Amino acid sequence: MKDEILRLLKENTEGFISGQEISERFGVSRTSIWKYINQLKLEGYEIESVSKRGYKLIKCPDLLTYEEIQEELHTEFIGRKIIHLNSIDSTNSKAKDIALELEEDGVVIIAEEQTRGKGRLGRNFISPREKGIWMSIILKPDINPLKVSLVTQIAAAAINKAFREMKIETFIKWPNDILLNRKKICGILTEMNAELTKVNFIVIGIGINANLDEDDFSEEIRETATSIKIEIDKKISRKKVVGKILNNFEPLYKDFIEEDNIEEAMKICRENSILIGNEVRVIRKDESIKAHVIDINKNGELVVEYETGQVENLISGEISIRGLKSYV
Ligand code: BTN
Repeated sequence: MKDEILRLLKENTEGFISGQEISERFGVSRTSIWKYINQLKLEGYEIESVSKRGYKLIKCPDLLTYEEIQEELHTEFIGRKIIHLNSIDSTNSKAKDIALELEEDGVVIIAEEQTRGKGRLGRNFISPREKGIWMSIILKPDINPLKVSLVTQIAAAAINKAFREMKIETFIKWPNDILLNRKKICGILTEMNAELTKVNFIVIGIGINANLDEDDFSEEIRETATSIKIEIDKKISRKKVVGKILNNFEPLYKDFIEEDNIEEAMKICRENSILIGNEVRVIRKDESIKAHVIDINKNGELVVEYETGQVENLISGEISIRGLKSYV
């Protein structure tokens, strides 16, 4: 009922809507409407109440609930169910806990804060309250487990495209980082549950440093990571970013699972790659080798050439790529 009242208020932001009208529309008492309105106020909605005139929605909070995100969403199934959590250890862990019981493809878990956000290679991922986008998409594609890493690239392509649509000039650092001004603003952590030839589910964890401030980062992390707010000097709408990412992700993902077609996603990854054409270090366990990045091939592998002239196709796994002197 609360969501229906909110929808009605959103449709009538020009004027007041009376308690009587709401009560007739939904067949509930004016006292219960008053209670729902108070709940909405507690959630951060600014609602003006004037006696004899009724209620008027003044401002919505920047919360990542389905109610807020749906205005931006044009998808068929990705993000059509969003589980919104106030605080959780990790949205990826939560997603893995519930994924086996879910039937549908594309359920999204979003938290306002993570207390133990997970990064790649066992690292922590800082995730302060309401400042970033901490979300996991649960997918149940009928694909070969060997192809799962391509879904990370589809996500990277969708995220980069979303930022470009918002005129934010991001780049993709293969395989799972998005950079702005050569610093990381987003990381992707893909986890899966699979048998030899069957994927039970994939969880695509996406962490975006949207509106974090300088002091949210430790001095060490500040050298390689930043937030969009720091770089463009203004806050961005988190719900708009989420909507655009999910909108871009769905067609690329559908192409992949229905047509086995990854071309468009790989094109975006190549055209927006910060690595192609540059000298890097390939870091694997204790070894760090200088290489020139040639391409990203159709299997999503990074094609590099070492100083010896040897060419290698790298699969994401346990590899890190760094610039010769800095992060890229
Ligand atoms: C990385 O850069 O190493 C990957 C970071 C992935 C962070 C996201 S935040 C949402 C999801 N839940 C997690 O615990 N991690 C991912």
